[in-house]
Amino acid sequence: MSQEENLPFNEKYTLPPYKETYRRSLEDSERFWKEQALELEWTKPFSKVLDESNAPFYRWFPDGLINITQNALDRHVKTWKTNKAALIWESESGESRTLTYGQLFNEVNRLARALKDLGIKKGDRILTYLPLMPELPISLLASARIGAVHSVVFSGFSHQAIADRINDAKAKVVITTDYTVRRGKKIPLKQVVDEALKQAPSVEKVIVVKRPHFEDTKMTEGRDVYYHELVSRTGYKKVEAEETSSTDPLFILYTSGTTGKPKGIFHLHGGYGLWTYLTTKWVFDLHDNDVFFNTADIGWITGHSYIVYGPLQVGATTLMYEGVPDYPNPDKWWELIEKYNVTVFYTSPTAIRSLMKYGEEWPKSHDLNGLRILGSVGEPINPEAWRWYSKNIGHNELPIVDTWWQTETGGIMISATPGLGNYMLKPSANGLPLPGVEADVINEEGTRAKDREKGYIVIRRPWPGMLAGVWGDPDRYISTYWSKFKGVYYPGDYAVKDEDGFFFILGRADEVLKIAGHRIGTREIEDVLISFPGVAESAVIGVPDPVRGEVAVAAVVLKQGYEPSENLKKQILSHIKDNLGSLVIMKDIYFVTKLPKTRSGKIMRRLIKSVLSGQQTGDTSTLEDETSLDELKKIINEFE
Ligand code: PRX
Repeated sequence: MSQEENLPFNEKYTLPPYKETYRRSLEDSERFWKEQALELEWTKPFSKVLDESNAPFYRWFPDGLINITQNALDRHVKTWKTNKAALIWESESGESRTLTYGQLFNEVNRLARALKDLGIKKGDRILTYLPLMPELPISLLASARIGAVHSVVFSGFSHQAIADRINDAKAKVVITTDYTVRRGKKIPLKQVVDEALKQAPSVEKVIVVKRPHFEDTKMTEGRDVYYHELVSRTGYKKVEAEETSSTDPLFILYTSGTTGKPKGIFHLHGGYGLWTYLTTKWVFDLHDNDVFFNTADIGWITGHSYIVYGPLQVGATTLMYEGVPDYPNPDKWWELIEKYNVTVFYTSPTAIRSLMKYGEEWPKSHDLNGLRILGSVGEPINPEAWRWYSKNIGHNELPIVDTWWQTETGGIMISATPGLGNYMLKPSANGLPLPGVEADVINEEGTRAKDREKGYIVIRRPWPGMLAGVWGDPDRYISTYWSKFKGVYYPGDYAVKDEDGFFFILGRADEVLKIAGHRIGTREIEDVLISFPGVAESAVIGVPDPVRGEVAVAAVVLKQGYEPSENLKKQILSHIKDNLGSLVIMKDIYFVTKLPKTRSGKIMRRLIKSVLSGQQTGDTSTLEDETSLDELKKIINEFE
């Protein structure tokens, strides 16, 4: 054995490629970004790297022309990759499809042509309500190709969520399908869109992907058209990518914040394209023979960046699966990894925890030796889940990249970077910042926190993948991200940094919950609760959950004339489901006569949280009425 092989795993690899790249990215940033950006194909090269004149509305490569689909498609179809698998799809329904880069390119062109024929132009918004099926990435790419702006709504969201997003984005087109499949059941989707459109007048056309064995979809004459009929109307004709500027919007993706209304985070062709391209290489180290399996849904940023745009721009094969991991058996994902020789696998801690309970036999019964790198995203990974993942999927050998980032950051910000030779892993740490990411931890006063002191993570300079703004609401962009601390980007997470510069992300610092890794604002749930006729006031908090990380609990004050009952609770829960979809897991609703509030009327969620988790309530001197807590304690004790 060479001396190198004798070294423990974490020291086997040297850091220089990463360290040197990181150093240059900050010290010689203009040249660094220029070099990196020139790895992409540009219709017209840029002369300026970053426009800071309207900060914090930073604009990257402002005078360059680039369309992300040129780099995701055109560039590969000119090479041998035209015959390489770009996208592999399987569904719980038994359907499956593999599209080479050439075939994907043709499909995208067909839809792009059809959208143009419908009169859709550069800048128009297209909303999709589709499950993981090939038509979803095809729709995104076709939209991008003609310079339109896509907005994906997760297929588990309610009609209300669709309507709100259509209205905010003023979308002209919706692309949907008959149904999706889940645990052997067909779940209608087009019907949900029909319901949403009753309150969303901007939509002119609905394109419906027809799926086998389903007759329940009703089509509205003049408005609705089947996808297959639409794309076959005109014969095949290539559509040149629209000459979009680097700073033209590519998509809007809605995400929860601390106020009731989800915000439309939007990203641009150039900066987002570059960031997803680079981070895919740096973190996942994808090469020509890699098959990448990301279990996220394209309804979230993880799917946008690392099912669609990152893997396709680097020319890898991306695998997507429609269905849950434990149906028909809890080895569905392990089966797919074996079947398609997956080399890099990316999933969430919640998914790992939910599969752990079925035991080790399930992964053991599959050959997972093709895997090289494992990833985790969405929430902190607890040591137990990390160990199970490492042992059973990674044979105690593979690096697990614990990638910290957000919808707003466009791509990964903090993680190990195997593609840059940085395999440095520490228990519970996310890792070091990626090149170009000047991250720091600061305390409430805005000064740098000491090593291992808990504070807020901030990013001290712009990076290419950063959000361009909040759609239609520039003030909200500034107040949410650039106002808590002067001159730095504020992500809203607690973190610590250790003496080696490793970051440990500890969770949200604001009123945002992470239920199974999905982001939802407590205010958003409270707004829905008080829209229920009998509810006068409500306070929602998150409580720990062994599988989902966190789930929601509400304390509710009823209006006069309403009495607490199990039946009422059920009605309220179904009201939440109708309005927010199935992602909000409400563990319980407690009926109280008053909420703990400060004298100035602010609800003290912190105290409710302490009572519910059986902890000391600490300082209660600002409470207006101490009996409000006693009542809550009594109810909880009775309940338990
Ligand atoms: O709190 C952090 C958590 O997820 C938030 C971002 O959520 P979203 O925009 O939905 O994007 C999720 C996927 C990128 C962050 O503010 N988060 C994300 N990844 C991690 C994480 N927390 C800890 N460790 C992670 N790896």
